[in-house]
Amino acid sequence: MKYPKEYLDEIKSRLKVSTVVSKTVDLKKRGKEFVGLSPFKNEKTPSFTVNDEKEFYHCFATSEHGNIFDFVMKTQNLKFGEAVRYLANVAGMQPYMFSKQDEEREKKWKEYSMIYSRYVDYYHNELLKNETYSNARDYLKNRSLGKEIVKKFKIGFVNYNSTFIEKFKDEFKENALLETGLFYIDDKNNKLVERFRNRIIFPINNLSGQPIALGGRIIEKKDYLAKYINSPETNFFKKGSNLYNLDTARKLSNKSENIYLVEGYMDVVGLNKNEIENVVANLGTSLTDKQISTLNQFFDDIIICFDGDESGYKAALRAAENSIKDLQPDKQISFLFLPENEDPDSYVSKNGKNNFLDFSKNSKLSIHQFIFNHYKQQTSNDPSSLAIFEKKLRNIANSIKDTLIKKYVLEYFLEKISELTPHQSQIKKKRYTKKIKSLEVTKKHFKESKQFSGVELKEFSLIYLMINSLNILQENINLLDNIKIFTDENKTIFNSITEKLKIEEKLHLEDLDLDNQIIDKINRFAPIKHILKNKINNDFEVIEILEDIKRDLNNYDLEFRIQELESRFSKDFSEDTFNELKELKKRQNIN
Ligand code: GTP
Ligand code: MN
Repeated sequence: MKYPKEYLDEIKSRLKVSTVVSKTVDLKKRGKEFVGLSPFKNEKTPSFTVNDEKEFYHCFATSEHGNIFDFVMKTQNLKFGEAVRYLANVAGMQPYMFSKQDEEREKKWKEYSMIYSRYVDYYHNELLKNETYSNARDYLKNRSLGKEIVKKFKIGFVNYNSTFIEKFKDEFKENALLETGLFYIDDKNNKLVERFRNRIIFPINNLSGQPIALGGRIIEKKDYLAKYINSPETNFFKKGSNLYNLDTARKLSNKSENIYLVEGYMDVVGLNKNEIENVVANLGTSLTDKQISTLNQFFDDIIICFDGDESGYKAALRAAENSIKDLQPDKQISFLFLPENEDPDSYVSKNGKNNFLDFSKNSKLSIHQFIFNHYKQQTSNDPSSLAIFEKKLRNIANSIKDTLIKKYVLEYFLEKISELTPHQSQIKKKRYTKKIKSLEVTKKHFKESKQFSGVELKEFSLIYLMINSLNILQENINLLDNIKIFTDENKTIFNSITEKLKIEEKLHLEDLDLDNQIIDKINRFAPIKHILKNKINNDFEVIEILEDIKRDLNNYDLEFRIQELESRFSKDFSEDTFNELKELKKRQNIN
């Protein structure tokens, strides 16, 4: 018995050829394709290529050529049926069970898909050509949707007076028509009625591009009508398993690592119009695990971008809490929050493609950041509120199935919480008041010195101390080891002074040969000068101040590196990054 095409297509669309092949052949990316050493021949230079977009492999050495089924049949010596079972398993699908019912189902599927194809084609052509459809065309024009984009998405319109149904009734049984959900029975006169009449229709396709359901939007606002309706669930359409535009967007998975997940049909269409094609919509229902795992099969980074209103935020939070448990290593889920009252469609229409891409690059939050921020906002700084906060975050982290990620996310949460706990914040407060004091002292200069960064000013202090305590340093030269200096000019000065301190007998300021302008600058702006003034002859105090400066400079270094690692960790989730980060934070706390 034959496997239904629908089942085989589903396997094919879930598994990239490169995914299947790379289990046995080392592949390297080259342009759109992958290359590797042929599994069919002993060779030293690669002549075996894989093309995910075209869904085949080709070996130039042996002319072997085929799809994923051919590949496992040939390389693993399997029969077709065995290859299907093997690959279905890899794709996370149930093995196909043949039975009388399957035959029946296959027959029904053929009819179902035929009705949908005919229906979608018919109303698409009508929208493009029929004179009486001008109201729908005007509506689309008003929303700046031209012919090209209407064709790309095969958008249609079901006229109120359409008689297309009569033609259908001759060809298909009433039951078959009813089972598509395109029609329903009007109880009053027992007649079939078009469900989508007077609506713009958006075909929803399965992974292989066959329409299996519709979304429909009214073109005139009427309070008693829902703005959008979808096909009801049928034998062949389950809302939580499908995503609008996934059939097209998945083909971009070898060009783009990320996929935008938006709320509405119009958002998908609007982004496409602005040349952002890696976008899908969940069909107005809450996001399911299945949808996330399907997207993860094709894309490493899912960017969830819901509307910038309260319901969009709530939906995003639901999605975050639900999908964090399935987070996988090497995969990311991020969230992008739009300005209030914007949706992706309106945002990109106003601001354009590049602005949207920049915005999403700079503003997206990783899922654990989003969840932390959300619950932090609801927490006040008292012990019981903090305890509830911690418990909530622990629960969320514990729901993560992958143990490695669970560990990382839990530690990420706990680290962040520990920064908020009373004990820690007292230490912080102390540091803070210390800073404020030194700010008071240098207030006037601080204003003038705004042209310099904090690090530079610290470096000025170091050099100021050096040139005013040459003798003390000459006797304690090792104190100048391991000092981190960031700006080139200051580094040069520092090195030159250190060298001279090492070789000269008794060093004086004049021996340093420093540029007067530089000395002036340092004398004016080094914040340390007021503090150092009365202590210049006290070895012990000078050394203590030097140690302070040294520690502050090294802390800047740590801070920069921690910032860099935090942003890397939120992208790669790697154990190495995390351990490095933890190590640095520990050092920062000791300092
Ligand atoms: P436009 O108003 O055409 O720009 O679309 P939109 O995407 O901005 O619409 P909205 O944000 O209101 O809705 C987003 C998605 O939610 C839609 O694409 C539908 O899937 C769904 N939706 C919206 N309104 C309704 C409704 O009244 N009923 C149902 N079932 N779904 C709806
Ligand atoms: Mn909109």
